[in-house]
Amino acid sequence: MTPDPQSITVELAGRSYPVLCGPGALDAAMSKVVALCPNKRLLCISDQTVADHHLHRLADACAGAGLTLRSLIIPPGEAQKSFAQLESLCADLLALEVERGEAIAAFGGGVVGDLTGFASAILKRGTAFIQIPTTLLAQVDSSVGGKTAINMPAGKNLIGAFHQPALVIADSAFLQTLPARQMRAGYAEILKLAVLGDADFFDWLDTHGVDALGGDAALMGQAITRSIAGKADIVACDEREHGVRALLNLGHSFGHALESLAGYEGALVHGEAVAAGMGTAFAYGVHLGLCPKDDYERLANHLTACGLPASLSAAPGGPYTAEAMIQILKNDKKNQSGVLRLVLPRALGDAFVYEEHDLGRLEAFLDVQLGQS
Ligand SMILES: NC(=O)c1ccc[n+]([C@@H]2O[C@H](COP(=O)([O-])OP(=O)(O)OC[C@H]3O[C@@H](n4cnc5c(N)ncnc54)[C@H](O)[C@@H]3O)[C@@H](O)[C@H]2O)c1
Ligand SMILES: [Zn+2]
Repeated sequence: MTPDPQSITVELAGRSYPVLCGPGALDAAMSKVVALCPNKRLLCISDQTVADHHLHRLADACAGAGLTLRSLIIPPGEAQKSFAQLESLCADLLALEVERGEAIAAFGGGVVGDLTGFASAILKRGTAFIQIPTTLLAQVDSSVGGKTAINMPAGKNLIGAFHQPALVIADSAFLQTLPARQMRAGYAEILKLAVLGDADFFDWLDTHGVDALGGDAALMGQAITRSIAGKADIVACDEREHGVRALLNLGHSFGHALESLAGYEGALVHGEAVAAGMGTAFAYGVHLGLCPKDDYERLANHLTACGLPASLSAAPGGPYTAEAMIQILKNDKKNQSGVLRLVLPRALGDAFVYEEHDLGRLEAFLDVQLGQS
């Protein structure tokens, strides 16, 4: 028997919203979508790959609910998170006479979600926003929590806004067409959530993660639900990242540096960068005497078993240099008063924000890491 979709609430004063996840979530959500479409039409933004696979499903669901679906389709890929694409999208949205009171839906992965969310945040000073994530990464991470952004040559996600969706629809049926590499990349963000604060979840993933990735939909469904619930809790506690939410950046300072250097053409995908970044954060934690070596080895072994890079030298998209990584790390959004703030581990399931004053020490460490084969 197919399990029912689940509903998880992101609790935010006056702006709480549901995340419907699992099989059948799209159909179950349509009454909520209708309530966000006063003009009986829904405008969705998608990328060409997602549209080819799944736009007909969204069109059918809308038709069944009495809504007209209008769509804007962009090319796939990280390079679309740019000022040029944002401007073009906003122009198209204005040409379609989208009103402030009607929802704009992001139908795709984290790229479509981040870009659409930012357009929705600034169009007419903010429209309602629906996330319909179609990658594992977007379902468990980027669609929940309201961070929206585009990239700049100086680094990832440097221009953006907090703009919470009114509804998230994470239907697992969309994942059936997702390539294995993208499933692994999304899994890296699930793992991140466990590693930063939930040792029991890490143990569970260490036991079941490889099978979940291997196609066991029931196990993957459990991992997804647990991950969304964990992220929802963190966002509810700290919407604007003044405290615990910063831990969600585990692996991301190093990961974003790799992504910036690899370029945004797909040689390195975000989740792979996060995986290599997490492995590096643990290796640095061991190097500084903050974290037991056994925990680093358990994480690295699990990443490798899942087909993810566990170190800088294993990350695709290089060559990378320590010097170039340090230049990008200096511009990291989390830095305060010029001090680099890294999320580092004390153990599996226990991460904290570490202020690194000694960039020379970090650069020497990165140099050694990059030299390993
Ligand atoms: N806002 C946040 O809180 C947050 C959190 C994590 C990551 N992100 C951002 O998310 C982005 C990465 O997201 P992503 O990994 O989803 O990348 P993506 O959106 O580029 O999607 C990956 C690829 O999968 C394709 N695809 C999407 N759904 C598919 C499906 N169902 N079947 C087949 N192909 C499909 C896309 O066309 C694309 O080629 C990065 O830009 C990252 O910075 C944001
Ligand atoms: Zn991420």
